[in-house]
Amino acid sequence: MKFFADTAEVKDIQELNDLGLLDGVTTNPSLIAKSGRKFKDVIAEICAIVEGPVSAEVVSLDYEGMMREAADLRKIARNVTIKVPLTLDGLKACKSLTSDGCMVNVTLCFSAIQALLAAKAGATFISPFIGRLDDIHVDGTELIAEIRQIYDNYAYDTEILAASVRTALHVKQVALIGADVATCPPAVIKGLVRHPLTDKGIEQFLADWKKTGQTL
Ligand code: E4P
Repeated sequence: MKFFADTAEVKDIQELNDLGLLDGVTTNPSLIAKSGRKFKDVIAEICAIVEGPVSAEVVSLDYEGMMREAADLRKIARNVTIKVPLTLDGLKACKSLTSDGCMVNVTLCFSAIQALLAAKAGATFISPFIGRLDDIHVDGTELIAEIRQIYDNYAYDTEILAASVRTALHVKQVALIGADVATCPPAVIKGLVRHPLTDKGIEQFLADWKKTGQTL
């Protein structure tokens, strides 16, 4: 499974990339606002660090506006992936952009039927938001399972990009279901390594090694 970092913080992206754990990045207007930086500058810096897809989201709601913004964003780097909302205009823009060889991430997906439409529009990625479903007491991982089944039934090659992933448990659940990608805040990705028995084991081995009086 691929890991994307869901952030616009360049320092965190660099750190994860150096660890060899990063396959791509997703941003959204809220994350750009949080960074306090200029949108295109941030995307250019991220694309210079990460080889994989870097999602940059359009903000127009109409097809023409989306296509105009996408044309501008695509100039930044070859790995810019245009993120469009799951609306009729977004799906139309998705079809046009993917037909023109551009990667597209269809975002704000909250139902399996929406995901089917995105696949029909040729989306490179579909982003079901599982954390936001959990927030309203709906099991977001069930949505991932439904989309997996539908895409497998018809051999769609749109990748399921589990988004709004908030915990290590979410990552495990979507990996078991077969999501292609999980996009997570950097802290969640780094936290995946933690296990108390690993820490305890290291402590014990080091204590025993000390008793041998040897050095390496
Ligand atoms: C995905 O592309 C989105 O940027 C993201 O996962 C949203 O997560 P949130 O619901 O935690 O804001």
